[in-house]
Formats: sequence, structure tokens, C-alpha cells
Amino acid sequence: MKVEKKPATILYPVPAVMVTCQDEAGNFNIITIAWTGTVCSVPPMVSISVRPDRYSHKLISKSGHFVINIPTTDQVEAVDYCGMVSGREVDKFKKTGLTPIPASLVNAPLIKECPVNVECEVKQIIKLASHDLFLAEIVANHIDEEVLNDKGRLDMSRAKPLGYGTHKYWALAEELGVYGFSREKL
Ligand SMILES: Cc1cc2nc3c(=O)[nH]c(=O)nc-3n(C[C@H](O)[C@H](O)[C@H](O)COP(=O)(O)O)c2cc1C
Repeated sequence: MKVEKKPATILYPVPAVMVTCQDEAGNFNIITIAWTGTVCSVPPMVSISVRPDRYSHKLISKSGHFVINIPTTDQVEAVDYCGMVSGREVDKFKKTGLTPIPASLVNAPLIKECPVNVECEVKQIIKLASHDLFLAEIVANHIDEEVLNDKGRLDMSRAKPLGYGTHKYWALAEELGVYGFSREKL
């Protein structure tokens, strides 16, 4: 039997990423974001949903830039921390010990320790209710050599991604099949 529940956000797992941004003076910030996703293939586009009261909302709206840094399971503490405190009060790079390095095209730093960094340029901001939806084009990607396989492709088992759901963090690296594998089976 199914139990009907009232409407609420329920999709799981979703990625929990560390989004970086910077103010006009060049000060960096990190915000943890779970409401993120791929929204278009050509051009490659992503979305992040950010509450207007977040410090990062102001920075990203002003600069029109951000970087999505995809953490590993080893970075779960920093992921949680960057979602608990505001850049208005805390220098989150200093506090977590994460290292900012320059992006190629956007005014926001990459987090060196995250194996994948996605440079994003905001194209549209859509006001929803609790959150504003930032639609952005991916203008550059950076991937650590250590997480590439021998064909130069991202190897998830090395990137050790983490997921978020039911107010908890989860490890996600077990491979179940290759895209399209069902066609040979069914
Ligand atoms: C796992 C997790 C996911 C979060 N996802 C979002 C999100 O998608 N959008 C958002 O506005 N805030 C989200 N938050 C809350 C912000 O990360 C948090 O309010 C943060 O302190 C804001 O930082 P800032 O004021 O420096 O921008 C999340 C927090 C956690 C711990």
C-alpha cells in the first residue's frame, strides 16, 4: 500500500555541490547547493536555485558568474559547513582550508581540491517563490587528471561523488551498467 504525503521536495539523491562566487573587490565565497541540475545539452547549461537572502545570491547576481565544484565523499564536512554559515560572517576558504585557484573565463574561483569544476555564465534569472532559478551556460570545465580513465573520460569511481537526500549525505560510486546496456538484454 502507498502512503500519500503532502507536496514537498522529495527527489533523491541530488548532487550536493560547492558553488563559488566573488564580490567586486575579489573576495571569494562558497555556498553549498543541492538544487542544481543539467538543463540543456547544446549549449551545455545548468541551473542552481538560490534563496534571495543568501550572500551568494547577491554576488552571483552582480557578477553573472559562478563555478560549480563537484566534491568527493572525502569533502563532505566542508560541503556541510559551507551550507551552515554565511560568507557575510565567515571566510569559508580560510575556515575549510580549501584552496581557491583562478578560473579561465569567469570571475569566481575554482576549488582546487574538488576534482571537477564547472565554469558558468548566468543567462537568465527566474524568480520562483522561495528560490530564484539561475540558468547558466557552461563556458569551461576542469577535471583532475587523477579522475580520468585511460580514454581521457571522467571515471566516477575515482571522482567518488556524493549525493544528498532525506537530510543526509550519501556515497554514490557503485556502477550498475553502461548507457544503453538494456538494449542487448530486453
Ligand atoms: C546540503 C545543503 C544543500 C543546500 N542547498 C541549497 C540550495 O540549493 N539553495 C540555497 O539557496 N541554499 C542551499 N543551502 C543553504 C546554503 O548553503 C546556506 O544558507 C549557506 O550558509 C549560504 O551561504 P552564503 O550566505 O555565504 O551564500 C544548502 C545547505 C546544505 C547544507
